[in-house]
Order: sequence, then C-alpha cells, then structure tokens
Amino acid sequence: MTVIGVDIQKAADLLNAGELVAIPTETVYGLAGNALNIETVGKIYEAKKRPFFNPLIIHLPSLEAAKPYVRDIPESLQMLAKAFSPGPISFLMPKSELVPDMITAGSDNVVIRIPDHPMTLELLRKLDFPLAAPSANPFGYVSPVTAQHVLDGLHGKIAYILDGGICRVGLESTIVGEEDGQLIVYRLGGITLEQIEKTTGIKPSLSLFHKNPDTPGQLTSHYAPGKPVLVGDVASLLAGKDVARVGVITFQKEHGIKNSYVLSPSGNLAEAAAGLFQALRDLDKADIDYIIAERFPNEGMGMAINDRLSRASA
Ligand code: TXA
Ligand code: MG
Repeated sequence: MTVIGVDIQKAADLLNAGELVAIPTETVYGLAGNALNIETVGKIYEAKKRPFFNPLIIHLPSLEAAKPYVRDIPESLQMLAKAFSPGPISFLMPKSELVPDMITAGSDNVVIRIPDHPMTLELLRKLDFPLAAPSANPFGYVSPVTAQHVLDGLHGKIAYILDGGICRVGLESTIVGEEDGQLIVYRLGGITLEQIEKTTGIKPSLSLFHKNPDTPGQLTSHYAPGKPVLVGDVASLLAGKDVARVGVITFQKEHGIKNSYVLSPSGNLAEAAAGLFQALRDLDKADIDYIIAERFPNEGMGMAINDRLSRASA
C-alpha cells in the first residue's frame, strides 16, 4: 500500500529504515532512498525498472553538506551553486570514495543537486545521508509533477509519497559539469544556458546525451507518453487528420481543437514549461490517437521544452 501524506518525520523514519519515499522538489517528484545503502539503491532501480547503466543524482540540503561526497568543486560550478542552489540545477563532479559505484554506474563522477522545496530541504536536514532520487516515474515515462502522478506510476512499489503540491518548475534540473575550464551542459532544464553564461561569463557547450548510455544523461526516447507524439507545425500536422482524434499542445495559439492545451497564452516560457508534463499526461489519458505539439521558441526555457518534446516523440 502506498500512502500520500505530508508527514516529514514519517518520511525520515522510512528513509532511515532503508525504504523508498517519493519526495517533492521544485522540478519534478523524486523517488528517494538512502544513497549510501546499496540495498536501498537497488530498490530504486527495481521500482522504476531502470537499467543499471543509468546513474542516479544525489540530493543534499546545501553545498556545504555536499562537500564530503566530491573530491573537488570547480570554481565555475561554485559560482553557479552560489547563484542558483537550492534550485533546478545539478552538478557533475568528481566523486569521493563515500559515493557507491552503484550510484554513478561505475563512473568516477557523481551528479549532485540541492533541491528547492521547503519540505524536502527540511527532510534532507534531518537525515545523515544524501538521498538518491531519480524522477519518480517508471523508466521512460513522463516525469511526475504531482503526488497523484507518482501514485499513478508507482502504486504499491513505495511506502510513502510526501505531498508537496504541484512542482513549480515542472521540468527536470539542468545538469552541468566542467572539463578543462569549459562548462558543459548535459541536460537542458530549469536553469537556462543564458543564466549560466551570465553568471560565470563562460558560454556553456551542449553535450546532450542521446544514444550512448555511457555518457551522462538520457536516452533519446524518454519522457514519452504511450501515444505517438508529433512535433512541428501544428496546422500542417493536422492536415488530413480527424481533429476529434487528436490532442494539441501549443505555446500561445488556439487551434480550435477540443483536446488542446495552450501552455501560456501570454507567451511566458517558464509558465509553459510548468504545464508541459501535465498536458502530456492528460492527453495520454484522453480518448484520442495522436498528440501534436508545436515547436517552442528555441531560447531560454523553450530549449528545454523542445528537448523534452523531441524525446517524447522519438
Ligand atoms: O530535477 C531533477 O534532476 C530530478 C529531481 C527528482 O531532482 N531528478 C532527475 O533524475 O531528473 P533522473 O535520474 O530522472 O535523471 C538524472 C539524469 C539521468 O539521465 C542520468 O543518466 C544522469 O542524470 N546522471 C546522473 N548521474 C550521472 C553521472 N554520474 N554521470 C552521468 N550522468 C548522470
Ligand atoms: Mg528521469
């Protein structure tokens, strides 16, 4: 039986006992367990049906608390942490021997994140270990942005879901690392490339993981609903289709289709990002055959939205 509640102490007790608890963050819900307990980490992979080659992010309440788990924090990443943590950004750094190889899938680097959610920060401060937490969805499916989404996907597989409401950002964290003074973004997310450049003075290069599961990050097909997702010019994609059988996701424009989600009529990309996964989930459940989405302006959070849409359609 999986219970939804708001009892932070109960979540801490379960985690101390080696159990799994879903936790709210500002990006998406995480499926959390003691990162230092190999048996618990195994349960995370099992509950998600996640392949073992796909490493896990560890969550801590502050950069200070993260220090024992890394060998070195490059200066540019320190600047980013100072500017944006707690927040929707994760850092790839050389791991210390405290981090089990099972967390990093054998890699010498670990990804660390300080999530910005009051309940989860309080929970992390109560614990004397980091929380490993991938998104709390079955592997490959759309990430959850409400406690109910977590329940829909993982019912019976975890003890408790800590309910922190709807995730404010709605897309996963940006993952960034440093190699030879160069900043590399491995996953687009809640902190934009523009924000990273402005803060550090370094223009990050993009190295989004696609087919090679050995490199940081995701596979091409990910965040995918069960229904086919087509991405492009909505009017052209609608041509010749029975509009009653189609769901549409757009930024600002209404196309007069019954099953449609206009993510931000006022043209705010952050607002659009926050509504994207809910829209994909709702349309996946609706009585339609296809989901059609337009491409978003490829700037700021629009880049992360386009990334998720193209993976959903792969
Ligand atoms: O916003 C987020 O980051 C959410 C919340 C729950 O914090 N977490 C999240 O975790 O999205 P997950 O596991 O769904 O995605 C983490 C990505 C994976 O694609 C994984 O391959 C990559 O980060 N990753 C984690 N550790 C890594 C490492 N040591 N080296 C390379 N890639 C890593
Ligand atoms: Mg995920």
